[in-house]
Amino acid sequence: MRDSYLDEFFTFLRFPSVSTDDAYKEKLVECGQWLVEKLKRIGLEAQLVSTPGHPIVWAKNKHQPGRKTVMVYGHYDVQPPDPLELWDSPPFDPVLKNGYVFARGSTDNKGQILAHILGIQEMLGENGDLPVNLHLIVEGEEEVGSGSLPGFLKEHRDSLGCDVVVVSDTGMVARGVPTLSYGLRGVTACEVKVTGSKMDLHSGVFGGAVANSITALARLLATLHDENGHIAIEGFYDDVNPLEDWEREAWRKLPIDADKMILEETKAPALFGEKGYTTFERLWARPTAEINGIGGGYQGQGTKTVIASHAMAKLTFRLVPNQDGDKILKLVHRHLEKHLPPGVTMEIADGHSGPWYLTDPHSKFGEAAQRALKQAFGKEVALIREGGSIPIVSQFRDILGVETLLLGLALHDCRAHSPNENFPLENLENGIKMNQAILREIGGGKS
Ligand code: BES
Ligand code: MN
Repeated sequence: MRDSYLDEFFTFLRFPSVSTDDAYKEKLVECGQWLVEKLKRIGLEAQLVSTPGHPIVWAKNKHQPGRKTVMVYGHYDVQPPDPLELWDSPPFDPVLKNGYVFARGSTDNKGQILAHILGIQEMLGENGDLPVNLHLIVEGEEEVGSGSLPGFLKEHRDSLGCDVVVVSDTGMVARGVPTLSYGLRGVTACEVKVTGSKMDLHSGVFGGAVANSITALARLLATLHDENGHIAIEGFYDDVNPLEDWEREAWRKLPIDADKMILEETKAPALFGEKGYTTFERLWARPTAEINGIGGGYQGQGTKTVIASHAMAKLTFRLVPNQDGDKILKLVHRHLEKHLPPGVTMEIADGHSGPWYLTDPHSKFGEAAQRALKQAFGKEVALIREGGSIPIVSQFRDILGVETLLLGLALHDCRAHSPNENFPLENLENGIKMNQAILREIGGGKS
C-alpha cells in the first residue's frame, strides 16, 4: 500500500466531524471540502452541496451511455468521542499501532469510504476511466438519521438515476471472512420524562407522602421486558416475520462461535437475550427495546436526601421486517401510559427513526458482489444480516428504485461508537481491492 494512503487517512481522521453537536458545524464543512478537493485531484467532478444540515459531497466521473451506473454511498460524520478519558490516545489525533489505526471514525465510516475512494483512484490512474458510470455520495448526517439526504435524492432523482448502490458501512462476520450483508435492522427512538413534584423536595419532610419520580420511572421501564428478555409491549411482535428455515440453517453453519466472540469482546459475565433464539438470530432477526440513557436526582459525591422532581430515560427500538416504526411508537406510547405508576405525570418526545432493510443476496448484483468479495479476500463469502441500521438504505429503494449491496469492512472489535475505535490497514488494503473488483463485476468484467 502506498505511503500517501496513510497520510491521507490520517488527514481525513483529524477533522472532528461530529454531526450531533453544533459546536463542530464548521469542522464538518471543512471535512467535506477536503473530500471534494481530494476527489477532484483523482479526476472526478466533485461538489459540496449545502443542505439545511451538514453538506453532502457529490462526485461523478464522465458518464457514457451503455454502461451500468453505480452509486457508492458513505458518510464522513462521526459519533461523539466521549467519554474522552477512556481513550488511550486522543480521538482526533490518529496513531498506527500493530497494524491498526486508532481514531474516532477510523472504521465508521472514514476508513471504509476511503477504501472506495482509493480503489477508484487506482483504477482511474491505471486505465484513465472506470468500467461504470459512478456517483459517489458522502453525507455528513448518517449518525443523526440522514435528515437531509432524502430531500437531496428527491431533488436530483433524475440525475442520480443508477442501477445499484454500493455501501461499505457494515461488518465482517469475522476477521478475514468476506461478508455480504443482505439485511439491516431499523431503529426508532423516544425520550420519556416523568415528573412528580414541581420542585426537588426534602426527603425527610416529604418522603412517604408524594411519589418519587425516579422510582416511578424505574418501575415503568421494568415493564418493557419480562424476565426472559421478551418485550412485553402489547402487539410489539405482531408484524415480526418469523425466521426462514434456510436462514436458520445458514447462520448455524457460519464459521464463527458468536457466543464466545461476544463474551470475549464485551467481558460481560454472561450472555442474555430473548429465549428460544441463537445469538445471531437475536441480533439480526429479532427486535429489541433498549434503554440508552437514564437520569434524575443527585449524582454528585456523597448523599443528598432529596426527592427529585423529575427523571428521564432515552429509549430506542431496533426493528425487523415487517415492523413499522410509527406503529411501534404508538404501541410504546400506549404501553407507557397504561403502566405509568400513580402520583406522577409523563411526557414522551419521539425521536428519529429509520426503517429496516432486506434484499436478495442472490440477485444478479448480489452475485456480482459475492464474486468481488471472493476475489479481494480469497475466501468463501458469508451471507448475513446486520443488527445495526443505515436508515437511508431503504430510501434508496423507495426514492431511486434501486437495491443496495452492503459490503462492510468493520470488524467485531472495531469499537465503533466507543473509545479506542480502530481500523486495520489490512482492511483498507483489501477494501481497495474489493472496491475495484465490485466496479469491474458490475461493469461486466471490463476494466
Ligand atoms: N455503520 C453503522 C451501522 C451499522 C453498525 C451497520 C453495525 C452494521 C453493523 C452506522 O454508522 C450507524 O451507526 N448507524 C446508526 C443509525 C442511527 C443513528 C439512526 C445505528 O445503527 O445506531
Ligand atoms: Mn455509526
